[in-house]
Amino acid sequence: MNRSPLLLVILVAGLAFPAHAQGTLKDRYASQFDVGVAIPPPDQLTPAEQALLLANFTNITPENCMKPESTEPREGVFTFAEADRLADFAKAHGLKVNGHCLVWHSQTPDWFFTDNGKPAGRDLVLKRMKEHIAAEMTHFKGRVVSWDVVNEALDDGHGYLRPSKWEKCIGPDYIAQAFRAAAQADPQAELYYNDYAIERQPKRNKALRLIRELKKAGVRIDGIGIQCHWHLDSIPYRQLDEAIRAFHAQGLKVMLTEVDLDVIPGRKAGASADPFAKACPPQVLKREAEQYGALFALINRDAPMISRVTFWGLQDARSWLTGPGHTNYPLPWGRDLQPKPALQAILNAK
Ligand code: XIL
Repeated sequence: MNRSPLLLVILVAGLAFPAHAQGTLKDRYASQFDVGVAIPPPDQLTPAEQALLLANFTNITPENCMKPESTEPREGVFTFAEADRLADFAKAHGLKVNGHCLVWHSQTPDWFFTDNGKPAGRDLVLKRMKEHIAAEMTHFKGRVVSWDVVNEALDDGHGYLRPSKWEKCIGPDYIAQAFRAAAQADPQAELYYNDYAIERQPKRNKALRLIRELKKAGVRIDGIGIQCHWHLDSIPYRQLDEAIRAFHAQGLKVMLTEVDLDVIPGRKAGASADPFAKACPPQVLKREAEQYGALFALINRDAPMISRVTFWGLQDARSWLTGPGHTNYPLPWGRDLQPKPALQAILNAK
């Protein structure tokens, strides 16, 4: 048989349906794990961004509006309007919300830690922490399925816990106290610990120690979030795989909670501060796609141990890594909302 007509059909079909970015993240992955994205209050997104969000994601994380500085800027004064809009949007569209975050050293007003201009004592700070947790979780009961109860509590250096104001004022048991208060405030919500660089040592062992200590103290912790803010050429694949296994072996849900890939090269003397101001070089987009593809190949292999993968931003212009004089390209969608080669690689990953 002459095979050339068949070949022609295949070639024409290939041109008509180029193998890029077919399907959505949701179609591709939601049967294996939840797919999430961090967003501002949804009314700050354009209609096109909202459409992109709804087509691709099952879960959202508020990027800022549920943090302590947003929800309790002054003691006892709760400002939930933005977060309410986010939670209501999620409910209307069947998205699950991960509350982020209740106890953190950053984006937390100083009133928590001061008493008439002096450092506040343990009892007062503990009371404020518990009241903050109770008020916020009670307010969002039924609309927020899970919470990052404590964020980034582990020390980057030689110590065990970060010497934050929480740790200094309350003592090392503040984490257990926070989880206990959370379990009491909303018994239905899942409770997570979230941090960066815990896929690697020395922080992975510190995270495992924390999990063991909480469990030994009879404190409920349901999951652990590995943030996954990485630089191009530096994704720690092997360590990530090991960490997923180690956390899963502790009986916890494991999530990749803030995925992005900073593509701006480290600044050398004399180098441009904003090297990709006009555009991202195609070679960089290609490497980004390859690395996202390899990451999702790993995620595919480990999928039975992973409950959610969340990107930290909807598209490049929305990323926290992009700012004035710092034009970055860390996410699968570009500023024009078009899929980048990275999305194609993520969808094609085996
Ligand atoms: C970032 C937000 O994306 C920024 O908009 C904000 O200015 C600072 O915080 N780890 C976290 C997130 O847990 O809450 C941080 O989000 C990024 C690092």
